[in-house]
Amino acid sequence: MTLEEVVVAFNATYNLEPVLFRAPARINLIGEHTDYNDGFVMPAAVDRQLFFAIAPNQKNLYELTALDMNESVSISASLDTMPPQGWAKYFYAVLQVLKEQGLALASVSCAFGGNIPIGSGMSSSAALTCGFAFALNDLFDWKMDRLALAKIGQAAEHRVGIKCGLMDQYAVLFGKEEQVVKLDCQSLTHEYAPLRLGDYRLVLFNSMVQHSLADSAYNDRRKSCEAVLDFLHKKIGITSLKALTLEKLSEYESAIDPVAYQRVRYVLEENQRVVAAQKALMTGALTTLGQLMYASHEGLSKVYEVSCEELDFLVDQVRDEAGVLGARMMGGGFGGCTLNLIHVDAIEPIQKKLNKSYDQKFGKKPAMTEVVTANGIGRV
Ligand code: GLA
Repeated sequence: MTLEEVVVAFNATYNLEPVLFRAPARINLIGEHTDYNDGFVMPAAVDRQLFFAIAPNQKNLYELTALDMNESVSISASLDTMPPQGWAKYFYAVLQVLKEQGLALASVSCAFGGNIPIGSGMSSSAALTCGFAFALNDLFDWKMDRLALAKIGQAAEHRVGIKCGLMDQYAVLFGKEEQVVKLDCQSLTHEYAPLRLGDYRLVLFNSMVQHSLADSAYNDRRKSCEAVLDFLHKKIGITSLKALTLEKLSEYESAIDPVAYQRVRYVLEENQRVVAAQKALMTGALTTLGQLMYASHEGLSKVYEVSCEELDFLVDQVRDEAGVLGARMMGGGFGGCTLNLIHVDAIEPIQKKLNKSYDQKFGKKPAMTEVVTANGIGRV
């Protein structure tokens, strides 16, 4: 759905003058499952987005319309009704978080739609929560900065979904064209690194699966890393995995549950890969970047254990193809997309190959999306 279509639909539904906002999806170049471990991540906002048309309505009712789904939901401004299901629960959660922060909530009418593939792992929910919070902040002039808005999006996500880190929300708010955001999740400060890909492109292949264990497995990973931190805090006083080296960790190997030990080892190694990837981007070393992506996938699949058969297959299928520099699963795992760095001339043949081989193995085709980096949330 385009911006124009969102405006037309808003006008047809609500008799108000809307303000328009754009909230992008995100990719993550490298640095997976490190955000909730105080580590480094390297996401970017991309040219897939949600558009919001929104206006205060003086009705004491939040009127929300998801145009792509052709569904409308109303929420009483007092938030004293049952939380809605589906996409509207994210709006409700944002409103609850804002209310808890003592903000005077005036009701709005809002229509939104866009072109983020749902369930692809591109964080349509971060676009939704942060886009809505950004729009309200702008409309009512609350003067919250982008970091505060990212935290509101995260708190809303914690209410309805996984105990996520801050990467997705940060990326959709701080993304910049032709840049990736290298975020330090401990200090919550970032630097931009230039994404000069020449003839290479960022291409996503969607596994078209979302395994049901994803949320609980995500929260489990988080817990086991926290348990190791807790243990090491008692032993050596560290308050963050950021303060740990692989060498130091290895001194405690026999005292730590083997699975949890591997999880933390993965996190420390992935942090090193993010730092190496930043260097590679600075010097235009795309081959190195690609190798880091493969290594990241290997760690996610074999050590952190958040991949699945479908994602592993998609990565394995492109590994030896000419024109592919790197590939990895992206996001929380157990489904969603792989991110691939592919030469522009190789995209079509790779897509053909995957369509055939994935279909033979899993009975479906992996939807392909080519993305370029884009600016973070803003008015349009
Ligand atoms: C999901 C979460 C993020 C992050 C990734 C894994 O996308 O929302 O906070 O933890 O998984 O890197």
